[in-house]
Amino acid sequence: MKIKQFRYSSDNNLGYLVYGEKTALAIDGGAAKEILSFVKTNDLTLKYVTNTHSHGDHTPGDKTLIESSGAVFLSNETLLKNRAVELEGEEIRVYHTPGHSSDSVTFHCGNFLITGDTLFNGKVGRCFSGDLKGFLNSVKLLMDLPGETIIYAGHDYVEEYMAFAKELEPDNPHIERYLEKYDPAHVHSTLDEEFRINPFLRFNDKKIISVLEKRGLPTGTEYERWESLMSLM
Ligand SMILES: [Fe+2]
Repeated sequence: MKIKQFRYSSDNNLGYLVYGEKTALAIDGGAAKEILSFVKTNDLTLKYVTNTHSHGDHTPGDKTLIESSGAVFLSNETLLKNRAVELEGEEIRVYHTPGHSSDSVTFHCGNFLITGDTLFNGKVGRCFSGDLKGFLNSVKLLMDLPGETIIYAGHDYVEEYMAFAKELEPDNPHIERYLEKYDPAHVHSTLDEEFRINPFLRFNDKKIISVLEKRGLPTGTEYERWESLMSLM
């Protein structure tokens, strides 16, 4: 499967088209016009329209995409029930990753993830569900995947988040490298890159633990460190 990223809205939303030889799946397809034009140019049929979660900034393209193409809409309830979407005989796995919202899912196809507002390039989403424990488990589930796994997120906040990461760790040389590689036309990173710069995946990293200690935040358990990190947002 291939993936194409589409930027839309003033909040730097990122939506995706996952496609094979003939058919495609739109995820958070807010850039409906551009997606439909890409589908047409590449002789594809839009088979499914779906979302990483039901927040309004991820769903504004759904209606146009469905009405213009006849694609089937897969609700988050359907995704959570089926746990996979099949496209041209290939399985796109669906992981329930609650935390940012209770209905958040992450798609896993080949070596890439579509993470919505669960995991960003450089940060994690805000915990709007209130389920901080569930959020930690969701993040850990993603962290267990191979380091070369590519992350495609629901927003591009890379520059803002790297400024935050630098505030916590001014002497982390990987932050500069991460920013040098950053391309607003194709926003992505690998899990290994995230392990070097994303403070929210580093709740067991000595350097981040000492940052938390210096701020007088609890660090006794993994959950306390996660909670402390999330309190800095
Ligand atoms: Fe959201």
